Order: sequence, then structure tokens, then C-alpha cells
Amino acid sequence: MTLLQSNPSWWQSAIVYQIYPWSFQDSNGDGIGDLPGILGRLDYLNGSADSLGVDAIWLSPIYPSPMHDFGYDVQDYCDIDPRFGTMADFDRLISEAHHRGIRVVMDLVLNHTSDQHPWFIESRASRTSAKRDWYYWADGKGRRRPPNNWAARFGGSVWAHDRHTDQYYLHSFLPEQPDLNWTNPAVREAVFDVVRFWLARGVDGFRLDAINWLGKETSWPDNPRRLAWRSYYRQVHRYDRDQPHTHEALRALRASLKDRGDILLVGETSSDTPGGPAAFYGDGSNELHEVFDFRLLRSTWHPEAFRRLILESDRAVPEGGWPPVVFSNHDQSRHIDRYGAGGDPIGRARAAALLLLTLRGTPFLYYGEELGLRDGRLKRSHLRDPYTIRYWPWKIGRDPARTPMPWDDSPQAGFTSGAPWLPLSQGWRQTNVASEQQDPGSMLSLYKRLIRLKKGSKALTVGTYHPIDGGPQECLLFRREFHMEGQRESLLIAVNFSAQARKISLPTAFSELTRTGRLILSTDPQRAGDPWTADDFYLGPDEGIVVSVQ
Ligand code: GLC
Ligand code: CA
Repeated sequence: MTLLQSNPSWWQSAIVYQIYPWSFQDSNGDGIGDLPGILGRLDYLNGSADSLGVDAIWLSPIYPSPMHDFGYDVQDYCDIDPRFGTMADFDRLISEAHHRGIRVVMDLVLNHTSDQHPWFIESRASRTSAKRDWYYWADGKGRRRPPNNWAARFGGSVWAHDRHTDQYYLHSFLPEQPDLNWTNPAVREAVFDVVRFWLARGVDGFRLDAINWLGKETSWPDNPRRLAWRSYYRQVHRYDRDQPHTHEALRALRASLKDRGDILLVGETSSDTPGGPAAFYGDGSNELHEVFDFRLLRSTWHPEAFRRLILESDRAVPEGGWPPVVFSNHDQSRHIDRYGAGGDPIGRARAAALLLLTLRGTPFLYYGEELGLRDGRLKRSHLRDPYTIRYWPWKIGRDPARTPMPWDDSPQAGFTSGAPWLPLSQGWRQTNVASEQQDPGSMLSLYKRLIRLKKGSKALTVGTYHPIDGGPQECLLFRREFHMEGQRESLLIAVNFSAQARKISLPTAFSELTRTGRLILSTDPQRAGDPWTADDFYLGPDEGIVVSVQ
């Protein structure tokens, strides 16, 4: 870790803000967010005294797409969907963002394209098409039986039958998302061209979608079965993901970025991947810089689970790699609702905000999280995402976390002058940017304080993480430390996961360190500036604090 402490990359101390382009800001009244809309809101993100203060935005896909999977079905990797604007808008976004100190991270969907991509149209045209082997095609087992039992992530078989050529093509997600054949060197070259295209336009990094799906065992053996209620989980995904070939492709991608500057590659992988997501760091210097670990995101709000998962994921990151911290994204129910279940959602979301900004790693902040935006209470007729529609009877789904960003209390919350593509979340008349900007006790004000604190602190950005064991069971305690060439910063972080006040009562091992300090931030806005001594400090219900114990 020493190397990265002395010469950190921008992404080590950055806060990345995820924009779901459909939902951030509409500029032309069609009810769909767009690039000019984002441009008009950049000051909210950074560059002025009352901005949130984030250093980078990650844009979920903005490429031309039939939008079966809301942009994760790409029809053209090198253009902008007209719903979102033009390439000129994009170039302006890059320069205006950079001007405000905001880097831009693109979403790269490399495992699959849209079935409307010209590559696939050519591939499916005939068995002898020049691009036939850009995708995976196989014969069925006799009449009307697919080549094997593999299950698609969004339900059903991964195999779709093509009547015209009487073969099956493989799709790990929707049938409209055929998987690219990464064993084909021509595919790899075409994708690296795409990467170079966006780098030349000035982007600062890529979030690699579903990256552990790239490699498949192409002798097509059946996956072993197991018991579960949904088809995707009724098998062990031994052959359809996480093959050695994926690592080889990532090493080639990383090598292609050599001498391209400080570009971030952050990967999305499935959490039950063998070896864990950390396998995709490679040796720490030859695959991805950061890899999402969703175990914490999937956890319940429980201090013991957090203690164990934080430690496990922190320790798994090899030297040279860097962990992202993520509690919410566009694929999950928002964490205020997940962690809040059975307790006070706002109190817990405030505590989670403190963890997001104080754990070791790059915080990925999903739009609206900073307001305490809740999942939308949607009716069946509102749903747009095919996965959400398919599993709606079981209340599993993604649309509730994709509702429009509420900016103010005007009609449609300042998001659009038309009819929004998804309804606003409940509570938007209070939970919106304009009203929270005014209120020092709001979630937004807390996020701003935490972001400023993190950016001004070596310990919180590049420092090391040390759990403190033996404290009260309902609390999570840890230290962040930075020591270098005479500089020394030591912070204690404590979060009360219970609804009762708790005395911190530090374990005796801690007495070797300073037991007095200065409370520099509490999620309880009444408390800032209180003196702090380890032996008689009570944390309020759901309270989180940062103490300088220098
Ligand atoms: C990733 C994306 C998700 C998408 C899927 C297929 O998991 O985050 O939104 O549906 O990949 O591209
Ligand atoms: Ca629009």
C-alpha cells in the first residue's frame, strides 16, 4: 500500500457519482433525462461553494440503443442515443465537467450488444456470414432442445433459437442482448477501438458491465444443478461465467491502456464468483484497478455482518488494487429502504452515509442517495424494466430505484416540463435538492460535510483501515490511519447500529492509543464540536461519529 499512498491515482481519493441518464434531468420536455440536462446541473455536483463536491461522474450507458435493458443493450458503441442528445453535447459535457474538476467515467458493456447492433445483424444473416463467429452460435440437441441447460440472468434459457439459420445464439441476459464471442481476436480488436475512441474524446475511465461473464466454456457442458426457486439460481454457474479466459481479456485491455494516463477501470462482477470479486484485480497491477464487491450491499443492517464483510473485502484487495465502496446502484432497491427495514430508515441512511465516506475505498454514490430518496412506490402499470416486470409478483425489481431526481417542489420536481418516464418517488416535496440545500440538518448537508471531511483528510482517502474489536456489540468501530514522513493522522469511526444509546467503552487494547480526542463530525447535527473522551461517550440511536484521536 505504501506505493499507492505516496503517489495516489485520482480515483483513490475521488468520490464517484453515478448518474442514471434517464432520470437525472430532462431538458426538452420528453420526460427522459438527457445530456443537456446533466450539463445544466453540473454546478450542483462540483465547482461552486455549495456544490456536493464529487470528483467524477459515472454515466450509465448513453449509446444508441433499442432500450430493452435501458441502454445496456448497445446498438452503436461510438455514438450517443438521440434521446440523450448529440456527440456535440457529449463533448461539451466532457469539457464543462473537466472545467469543474469532475472526471467522466463511461459504462462499457462488453459482454453483449443489442440484437440490433450491425455486428449481430450481420452475424445472424447466414451461417457463413463473415461475422458469424463474433457471437456464440451452436446447434440444438435434436429438435427444439437448446445446446445445454444454462440459465439466463433475467430468466429462461441463455439460448435463443434463430429460425432463419436454425441455430441457437447465446444471451446471458435478455434475448435482445446476444453475447459477444471474446475468443475471437477480431472482437477484441473492435472493442479496443471503442475504448480508444472514447479516450480520444477525453473520458477518464470505464465501468465494465457484468465483466465476469466474458469467458464461457465453449464445449458447452451443462451446469450442475442445485435447489432454488428462481431458474437462474437453480444451477451452479460453473461454465457460463468466470472462466480463465476473462482474465486474459482483462489483462489485454489493461495492457492496451499503458501510457494512456491515469485511466480508471472499475469492474462489476457477480458476488458468488469463485475467488470472490477480488480475483479480477489480477496480481494488483495487471487487470482492474477497482472491482465492486456487492456483499455489503446485499447484507442486512447488522454490525456483526458489516464487521466481517468489511474486513474480508478489505483484506482481499491485493497491493496495487483499490476497493470501491457501494451501497446503492440502478440494479437494487435503494439502501435507505433495504438497510432501513425494521428500523428508522433515515437514521440508518445517515449512518450508512458516514460509512460510505469513511471506509477505505472510492465511494460510489448513486444519484438521489445524497437526498435520502426512497424507492418509488410503483404500480404494475408504471413498470418499464423487463426484469422488474417478470419478477414483480415477488416484488423484486429495479424500476423503484430509477425514479427521477427531485430538484425542487415545482410540478414534476423540476425534473421535466412533461410527463416523467417513471413517476416521482413519494415524499419528493420535502426530499428534494432545493429544500435540503436550505436545511443544515438534511441528508444533503450531511453528505456535503462528509465529502468535505474526506477530501481534506489523508487518513480517510489514502489511509489504512484497522478494525477495533471488543467494543460494544451493537457498534462498529474502526480506525483510519495515515503516517508518512512526519505526517500523522489518526481517526476513530464509530457507528451505533441499534435504536438505543450505547456507551462506546473502548476495549483496553485501545488504551495504548489516545483515549481523548476531538469529535469532528456526528450524523447528529446537534452534536458537532462536543469534547470526546473514550470512557464516557454515548452514541445516540443510529448515530455515527468521526473522532480525531491524534
Ligand atoms: C449489469 C447492469 C445491469 C444490466 C446488466 C446487463 O448488471 O448493471 O443494469 O441489466 O448488467 O447488461
Ligand atoms: Ca429529454
